[in-house]
Order: sequence, then C-alpha cells, then structure tokens
Amino acid sequence: MVLIKRFAVSLLFLFICYAAATQNIAILSRGTKTSLRGLSVVNKQCFWASGSYGKVALSTDGGKTIKWHTVQGYEKRDFRDIEAFSASTALIMAVDAPAIILKTRDSGYTWQKVFEDTSKGMFLDAMDFKGRNGICIGDPLIDKPYIITTDNYGESWQKIEEKELPALQKGEAFFASSGTNITLRKNGNGYLFVSGGLTSSIYNSSNKELLPLNLQKGKESTGANSIAFYKNKGIIVGGDFARDSLAINNCVLFHIKKGAINFVTPTKNPTGYKSAVIYLNKNTLLACGTSGVDISVTGGKEWLNFSRESFHAIQKTPGSNSAYAVGANGKIAFIQLQ
Ligand SMILES: *[C@@H]1O[C@H](CO)[C@@H](O)[C@H](O)[C@H]1NC(C)=O
Ligand SMILES: *[C@@H]1O[C@H](CO)[C@@H](O)[C@H](O)[C@H]1NC(C)=O
Ligand SMILES: *[C@@H]1O[C@H](CO)[C@@H](O)[C@H](O)[C@H]1NC(C)=O
Repeated sequence: MVLIKRFAVSLLFLFICYAAATQNIAILSRGTKTSLRGLSVVNKQCFWASGSYGKVALSTDGGKTIKWHTVQGYEKRDFRDIEAFSASTALIMAVDAPAIILKTRDSGYTWQKVFEDTSKGMFLDAMDFKGRNGICIGDPLIDKPYIITTDNYGESWQKIEEKELPALQKGEAFFASSGTNITLRKNGNGYLFVSGGLTSSIYNSSNKELLPLNLQKGKESTGANSIAFYKNKGIIVGGDFARDSLAINNCVLFHIKKGAINFVTPTKNPTGYKSAVIYLNKNTLLACGTSGVDISVTGGKEWLNFSRESFHAIQKTPGSNSAYAVGANGKIAFIQLQ
C-alpha cells in the first residue's frame, strides 16, 4: 500500500515535471528554408543563429522579433557554426571548399572574409571561443585534424602544424552537427576534441592523449558529437544519426582526478541520438538531437525525455536557467527551467 502510494506519488511527480517541462519550450520561429546548426547566445535578450542557404538570424529582444539575413554572395553556403561577441559582432563559418570564415561588425548587414582555405576536401566542423582566443577544427585532409587558432576575436587565424597533432584512424572524423565537438580550456590554454565515424575518441592537447570512447561506432554516422564541461566533470553525447532512436552507447560521463580522466556510463541513457549537450548548472543538463530534447537533473547520470521537438544545437543563456535551441526548417526555441 505504502509502496503503491509512493509509486503513485512519484508518477504524479514525473508527470508534473514532464508537463511543466513541455510547457516551457517556446517555439520562437519555424518554417524558414534553412537548416540551423550554428547558435550563439550573448545574453537572455540577444542570440544569433546560422545555417544553410546563407542564412543568419539575430534577435535582440529575446526572440520577439528575429532579423533574418541572407549573406550576399554566399546564398548557397552552409554556415554550420557561429560565434557572437555582441549584438553587432559575430563570426560565421562556411564549412566546405573553400572553407571560409566571415566577420560582421554591423549586426549582420555586411560581412568581411577573415579566413579562407581553398584546399580540396576541406570541411570545417566547429569553432569555440574563450574571450579573444578561438579555435576552429576541420576534418582530416589526410590523417591529421585541421586546426586553426586566433587570439584576436577571429581577425586573423593561424594553422596548427601537423606535427603537433595526433594521427587519426582511417574513417575517423568530426561531425559538423552542432558546433560543439571542440572545446577550448579556460584562458585558451589547450583544447579538447571528440571524434566520430568508424572510431570515436577524445583528444587532449595538453597531454597529447587520444583515448577511445565507448560510443556507437563503425559507420560514418556514428560517434561523438558534442562535449561539455562543468569544472572537473564533463559529458560527451552522440550515437548514430542514421538510427536516431537508438538509446545505447550515446552518452559518456567523465571526471578528472589528479589530471587523469575516468569515464562513467550513465544509468539511464538519453532517449536517442543527441547532437549537442549543455550544463545549465552542476546537476541540470539538457541534450538535443533529431530524437528530441532530454533533461537530466542528476548531473547526467539519468535522462528523461523533455520534448519530442527535434533540434540540432542548444546553448545556455549566460547567467540564467534557460537555453536557446535551433534545428531544421528555421526552427528556433527558448527553453526556460524553474
Ligand atoms: C563536431 O561537431 C559537429 C557539430 O557540432 C559534429 O557534427 C561533428 O561530428 C563533431 N566532430 C566530432 C569529431 O565529433
Ligand atoms: C588534459 O591534460 C591535462 C594535462 O595532463 C590535465 O590536467 C587535464 O585534466 C586533462 N583533461 C582531460 C579532460 O583529460
Ligand atoms: C516521455 O516518456 C514517458 C515515459 O516513458 C512517456 O509516457 C511519454 O509519452 C514520453 N513523452 C514523449 C513526448 O515522448
């Protein structure tokens, strides 16, 4: 009897959590012809998004109004990642040959080229910034990842020499699904990236260690998509985007003790393939993918579905228990947690 009551109470609790959670996804925009994968949240009022067909979106009023730009001369390009520094200044990355990074200083009306590489087979995946320091990673041209860095907000970029970089395995590459597979450490000191494809690994530039990840592997569509940190803890999500309901080997947690990395498997995995993960705080995380949005309130150990709405990328609102998410067909949403 007590058990049944407890069961009923916990069911009720789950239901309330779930109902409260779903109501808190506000779809701000949908139905524009662009697949959005780039997202950068400056503050609660100001966010930028970027995607295919040369599209960039900017809002400075929390999404009440959204200004859409088609970047002139780049109408066919796919801007897979965006990094914004303010409501006026941002960088966008056009992924494949030629790989190009553009910068605007006038809220998206005009763009100047700050980087270009016309090498055949170029494919840039993601950028990350900590203040003025930035890094951008691309798929291997032979067996080394392609990495460029900047120390002046993307005004100029330098390529990291190949001899400084690890050799990847055949068929190992990066996913340009949410712009979050590389992360710069605080003060731009070293970086970490995660890879996917036939094998899936994590690479730490500080100790030059390339470690295998226990995630879906063996196909072009498998592996790690996104890495996020909270102090000495972290999480990596991914899976198999060709089978996005597969809810195994799609998430790995880790913690760092005395400089050594220890991997932990969640007790209840996210509901399917996830392309991006973020910490809202120490215990609360959100992950999104074509399989929907999931939430964890146990530091990533257990995951619950939150919404069936599909998204490619998600970013925390600085200083707030909320996030923005973007996806296919120009979808942009705001997610508020209590
Ligand atoms: C990098 O991130 C992109 C999108 O965020 C993803 O598609 C790509 O697979 C990632 N690369 C790796 C190596 O995980
Ligand atoms: C990366 O290597 C440095 C230097 O050994 C270490 O302090 C840090 O904890 C490592 N980070 C991860 C995520 O393994
Ligand atoms: C979320 O999971 C619960 C419990 O398994 C299920 O009843 C519910 O239908 C799911 N919601 C969605 C939106 O998939």
